[in-house]
Amino acid sequence: MTLAGGLAARGQAQHPLARYRSEFPIFRERVYLNTCSLGALGERTRRKVAEFLDLWQSRGASAWYDVWWAALSDLRARYAAVIGAAPAEIALAPSISAAVSTVAAALDYTTRPKVVVTSLDFPTIAYQWLAKVRRGIEVVVVESPDGVTVPVDAIARVVDDRTALVATSHVYFTSGAIQDIRAVAALAHARGALSLVDAYQSVGQVPVDAHAAGVDFLTAGGLKWLLGGTGIVFLYVREELARRLEPTIAGWFGHRQQFAFDPHALEFHDDARRFELGTPALAAIYAQLGGLEYIEEIGVPAIRQVTASLTEDLIARARAAGFAPKVAAEAAARSAIVMLPMSDPAAAVRHLAEGGVVADARPGHVRLSPFFYNVQDDHVTAIDRLTTHRGH
Ligand SMILES: Cc1ncc(COP(=O)(O)O)c(C=O)c1O
Repeated sequence: MTLAGGLAARGQAQHPLARYRSEFPIFRERVYLNTCSLGALGERTRRKVAEFLDLWQSRGASAWYDVWWAALSDLRARYAAVIGAAPAEIALAPSISAAVSTVAAALDYTTRPKVVVTSLDFPTIAYQWLAKVRRGIEVVVVESPDGVTVPVDAIARVVDDRTALVATSHVYFTSGAIQDIRAVAALAHARGALSLVDAYQSVGQVPVDAHAAGVDFLTAGGLKWLLGGTGIVFLYVREELARRLEPTIAGWFGHRQQFAFDPHALEFHDDARRFELGTPALAAIYAQLGGLEYIEEIGVPAIRQVTASLTEDLIARARAAGFAPKVAAEAAARSAIVMLPMSDPAAAVRHLAEGGVVADARPGHVRLSPFFYNVQDDHVTAIDRLTTHRGH
């Protein structure tokens, strides 16, 4: 999109996905530019949760054995489809932290005590292994030279034959930059290490093909770009590893014969379900099934096309208003997260909120993130409002 096109006046022709906006009631009251914190609630998602509540009310536990059990496999299969994986490579988990913990508890650190992360990753990734330092785990944090991205070469330099895992992000949460996860997986494998990708900020807004990327583990979920809300994520485990790795934390959902209730022996599922622990939160499962209806109907490539152009529009408007967005140098490496450096971001976010704009603060920055339900007018409103804050 050209700058002139990006800066068209209010009321310009909308992009084709703007028709979904009416299904997200928050836009009747507010300008929502915070999908990277929490995706907006759509009517289909609300209806799906209501369906769960109706079942619970009318059938109680009897709904487990047909409908709810089927909902779990349905969700595994649909998560798999979004990232080009097989259903048997998907485990459900309640949070990224929990999913990553199960991986951390399955690795053998005897001759490879080192885990490599980057300074731009969401810190819950590093915390899994920092918590194990007293057991001999070494955590190496590769620093970002610019706060936007981490060069693959810098990661490669610290990965060696003592490295068990390289764990990093697909999209960095405080810059929106897209990391080359294929290159990361390749450099890990070249030294006999495994790779884990936190794709919470990418799956749903940026196409992901787990097999083509060659990663060993990948985790993402409902909260943000898959419009499923809190409490439901997935862990992708490459098929061969899903059959072979033995987690050292376990629960009955990981047991091959869960309903035998035999405490004498633990027989893992022969697929990624061995990484599952206890009873999942069904309301969250249903919310995610509802959110996925949007993602599947539109398709991630079409979403990416619209959000990439919205992102460029937002950056151009911010620059035109005198801000200096901190984003990747190349448009192709940008996702729909735009960081605006501000001296008091929390105050700026409050000022935005008073003007009906929902955004977020991260250290030193206001974070804005458009999705397919946003339109350029949202950017006009948000940037105008921020401009009045700067004068205060
Ligand atoms: C990239 C990324 N990973 C992980 C998390 C949080 O994960 P958890 O599900 O453990 O709260 C966030 C933010 O919520 C995130 O942006």
